[in-house]
This record gives sequence, C-alpha cells and structure tokens, in this order.
Amino acid sequence: MRYVEGPTGKQISRVGLGTWQFGSREWGYGHDYDQREAGAIVGRTLEQGVTLFDTAEIYGFGRSERILGRALRRSDADLDRLVVASKVFPLVPTAPVVEQRAVGSASRLGVRRIDLYQVHQSNPVVKDPTTMRGMQALLDVGLIGAVGVSNYSLDRWKAADRALSEAYSQSELVSGDAPVVVSNQVQYSLVHRDPEADLLPFAASEGRLVIAYSPLAQGLLSGRYGPGDRLTGVRAANPHFLPDNLAASAPLLDTLRDIAASHQVKPAQVALAWTLRHPAVVAIPGASSVAQLESNVEAADLDLGDDELRALTEASNRYRPVTGIATVPQQIRRMREARRS
Ligand SMILES: NC(=O)c1ccc[n+]([C@@H]2O[C@H](COP(=O)([O-])OP(=O)(O)OC[C@H]3O[C@@H](n4cnc5c(N)ncnc54)[C@H](OP(=O)(O)O)[C@@H]3O)[C@@H](O)[C@H]2O)c1
Repeated sequence: MRYVEGPTGKQISRVGLGTWQFGSREWGYGHDYDQREAGAIVGRTLEQGVTLFDTAEIYGFGRSERILGRALRRSDADLDRLVVASKVFPLVPTAPVVEQRAVGSASRLGVRRIDLYQVHQSNPVVKDPTTMRGMQALLDVGLIGAVGVSNYSLDRWKAADRALSEAYSQSELVSGDAPVVVSNQVQYSLVHRDPEADLLPFAASEGRLVIAYSPLAQGLLSGRYGPGDRLTGVRAANPHFLPDNLAASAPLLDTLRDIAASHQVKPAQVALAWTLRHPAVVAIPGASSVAQLESNVEAADLDLGDDELRALTEASNRYRPVTGIATVPQQIRRMREARRS
C-alpha cells in the first residue's frame, strides 16, 4: 500500500474503502452482505494496510456508519492510525445543525472523534460561514479531526476555506495553526474527468486532497457490464449504464482489458491506477465482496507506463456518451479536438 500524508499528520492510504454499499437498499446487496460480508470487507481492508474509510450519515440512513463502526471496533486494529471520514447531509447546514449531526455520526460509528468530517454537497441557500462555524466548534472540542467538503466547485471550496479561517479567528478555544478545508470528495474516473480542470491543480499546489468517489464508475470500468445486461438499483439511475452508452464505452473497456492483460491484472485495477496517477488523488472504491476489495487495494501498487496512461486518456477522450451527460470541460475538450482535426 502507498500512502499520502493526511490531515492531523496521519498516513492516508491511496486506496481507501467507500461504504455507501453498507446498509443501502439502492445497491441491493441484501441482508447477508450487511451482516457478514461488510464486516469481512472491513477486516480484510485493515489487514491490507488501508487507513481511509469513508461513510456518510445519509448512507442507509445511518446504517452504513453503524456497520462500519461495529466492524472497526471488532477488529484489533489501532483505530488511532485510521482516518474515519463521514459526511453531514447539508439539508439546513447551520452551525447548530452541523454540531448536532456530528454527535449523531460519532455515536453511530462508536468513535470519540471523526477524523475527517465532510459537507456532503454545497447548499445553494445556506452559505459556508455558518456551516464552518459549526465545523470550527467541532474542531475546538476535538469531536472532529479535520474538515473536508464534497461535490464542491473550486470557488466554493475556496469560500469554505475562507469561512473556516474566519470561524477560527473568532473562536475562543483555538490553538495551533488555522485549519483549512483539507479535501474535496468528488466523482473522478476515466468517464468523469471534470476535476482535472481546476480541483486537481489546486489540490496539488495547496497540499490538499481530492478524494475520488465512484472511481470505477459504479462498476462500469470493471468491464463486467454490457448493453445486454438488465441493471437495477443505483446503476439503473446512472446514464453510463444506458445500453447506448454501454456500447459507446466498449473501446475504452477494450483498452482497459488490453493493458490489464499485459500486467496480468484486472481492468478495474488499471482504471484505479489511472486515477491514482495524480499525486493529490486518493480513491475510495466500494466493494461487493472481499475479493473485489483485495483487488482494489492491490491497484495502489500498480505502476502504469506513460504510454499506457496516454492510451487510457485518449480512449477516455474518445468515449462519447450519447445522452447529453458530457460535462462542460469534456465538451470544450472535444470542441478543441474537432477544430484541430
Ligand atoms: N460524496 C459523494 O457524493 C459520493 C457519491 C458516490 C459515492 N461516494 C463514496 O464513494 C464510494 C465509491 O463510489 P461508488 O460506490 O459510487 O462507485 P465505485 O467505487 O466506482 O463502484 C463500486 C462498485 O463497483 C463494483 N466493483 C468494485 N470493485 C470491483 C472490482 N475489483 N472488480 C469488479 N467490480 C468491482 C462493485 O459493484 P458490483 O459487484 O455490484 O458490480 C461495487 O459496488 C462510495 O462507497 C461512497 O463511500 C461518495
């Protein structure tokens, strides 16, 4: 396993474990998964040197936090070495609400401190100053170790940073350096590359982290799914799994398969290694089995050559989802390519 230096000086594994799957009906893994497999996944994850665990109060309406917390407590791992991250769902994220929600998450997790507490997405009405006053209050009492955001634009990330700094300057309990918003958890994979435009350069230059969620595009990049598959749950709502887009992604999946074959690894591992080529990125794939988890963890040590990375990036550029889900940076990149050719 490879690590980056994280908030509060802890080592963050480049591959962490995403736990939206735990206790969540939308993934459809069922009772046995929640009762047995999820715990086994956490146990094996710890044995493999993973230190980053991501959950959220909204996942399974608290069940994910409970399942993760129980599994961590049952293990004999040194919990002080881990970075347990959760998220507040920002329905009305005023300072008192943020404080109260963190108490609930810590209690479900059974931890004295949530190492990284993230705002799940930016609220268009409630701005960051009140949210960050809540975060600062939580830092003051040690209930959280560091502050992160998720699904934030760069402007909003910077605004959250300023708000946290302001809250720090007004706090009576502060000690040490002013805190920053250490991370932004965003979707990042071969089929979703928006963070490259501005979040990744910012994270690299400021010593922050981009935590890549859905790094396997919810399983698409494993190559297991094709246009003939009937998909349910989260994948039924994901445009990349529409039959036309599954067909359009075939060349990208073939590139993944070719490179995987030459390294004797799996396409999903190549997809993760491509995501991890950027030093400011850590990835948090979810897993439906211990075997998947093991495979994902091994990807942290997979080095791809420059020519392979280039081939993947070019195959990603050529993937044109046909449902209008192309993002603005993708559209601009394609317009630029079209003008060149
Ligand atoms: N902040 C946010 O708004 C946000 C949003 C989404 C997710 N997240 C976080 O990010 C985590 C990961 O994202 P995600 O769960 O959406 O997508 P993901 O990690 O891209 O995909 C996970 C799914 O891919 C399949 N898979 C995983 N490893 C595999 C392997 N080695 N080989 C083959 N298939 C494999 C499994 O599904 P099957 O076995 O069923 O095919 C698994 O459930 C979540 O658990 C959550 O913690 C955060």
